[in-house]
Amino acid sequence: MENFIHYNPTKILFGKDVVDDICQEISPYGKKALIIIGKGSVKQNGVYARVVSLMNICGLEHYTYEGIKSNPTFQDADAAVKLAKEKQVDMIVALGGGSVIDTAKAVAAGFYVEHSVWDFYLRKAPTPTKALPIFTILTLAATGSEMNNATVLQDSENGIKTAILNDLLYPKVSFLDPALTTSVPLHYTAYGVVDLIAHALEQFFGKGNAPLTDHYTADIIKLAMSYGRKVMEQPEDYDTRAQIMWLATNALNGTLRAGKSPGDWGVHNIEHTLSVLYDIPHGAGLSIVYPAWLKIQLPKIKEKLAFLAKHIFEFTSIDDEVLGLDFIAALEAFFKEMNSPVSLTEAGINIKEKQRILNNLAQNKVSGMVYPLTEKDHQEIVEEMF
Ligand code: NZQ
Ligand code: ZN
Repeated sequence: MENFIHYNPTKILFGKDVVDDICQEISPYGKKALIIIGKGSVKQNGVYARVVSLMNICGLEHYTYEGIKSNPTFQDADAAVKLAKEKQVDMIVALGGGSVIDTAKAVAAGFYVEHSVWDFYLRKAPTPTKALPIFTILTLAATGSEMNNATVLQDSENGIKTAILNDLLYPKVSFLDPALTTSVPLHYTAYGVVDLIAHALEQFFGKGNAPLTDHYTADIIKLAMSYGRKVMEQPEDYDTRAQIMWLATNALNGTLRAGKSPGDWGVHNIEHTLSVLYDIPHGAGLSIVYPAWLKIQLPKIKEKLAFLAKHIFEFTSIDDEVLGLDFIAALEAFFKEMNSPVSLTEAGINIKEKQRILNNLAQNKVSGMVYPLTEKDHQEIVEEMF
């Protein structure tokens, strides 16, 4: 078992209408808030109007930065920092999915410095030592950003998507009302399920003997598959949305890392290349990369896959290699069932793009933390993805 620190200071309010407690929860942190939102879904489904009206009633001054794109950019975060400084806000309220929350985290840290937030991500500036309090109202179950210390941004022009982790970036309070996720379109709902399964797997491939964590991991994946299928049938069902929301939060809030630190994250790193080159939704990229990565790594990870094959799918072979192959096939079949792409071709990316993908993987020295990736591995994985 690897040494680990288990720390998570985010307070979670989970359930129907928890957003009604917003004033009570955030007022102790100040009087002026910058609300950050995406491209309009929160206006269409009424949750933005609801939050603004609650803030008006309790006399919280608020400003809004609107237009964060999915796969967010550092330029948007810098522009939002400018507004936060002009208005001298006391806190950041993220109302949206992972892209909005990750931007809010960048803005919270960027508020206290003069340089671009991107310098933090490129390690050109010292790690943040101060950040505004962050609050999140989650509208899409997927990333776990609502209860972790990570933020991922991209520089589309220079082909870089990368993360920083900092304990100042844990949200103070996150409001998780599953009813807010019923308006998420089916394809993004599916990508969220894929993402949470991918988070469980990335950490599972960490180092260290941690049977409790491994069993949690297998259960989270099994339940995600079961409720994933259900949500495709009944997207309006509150209980199904609630299960998926809590599974996604738990898949990346530290629980699945205990004793397995730090996880591998090679698949996410490869996906960042697809995100930055083709603006593919994160979960859709993961359902393409994961099967390919697993096939290439099979000789090194067959015992681990055998565990998952037995615990998730109840497969019974005595041969680890057979179990490993069966696991990969079953995972891929599940992604297909969710209508999440399993090949680049399916995602509309032409085989002619192969070299461009390889160049970006080489440029960013894309690798994993436990299973390093050579250029030959890049080549094999990219070929497998078409
Ligand atoms: O922009 P709007 O109009 O709000 O629409 C969004 C967006 O188009 C829409 N949406 C969100 N909630 C909705 C809704 N539509 C209808 N009803 C609702 N209730 O969904 C689309 C996708 O939103 P986005 O926030 O981009 O999705 P997600 O939550 O999957 O976030 C993806 C980003 O998070 C990063 C990814 O790399 C990607 O940039 N990640 C962050 C992590 C973290 N901080 O820990 C870990 C993850 O591995 C991931 O890398
Ligand atoms: Zn992810």
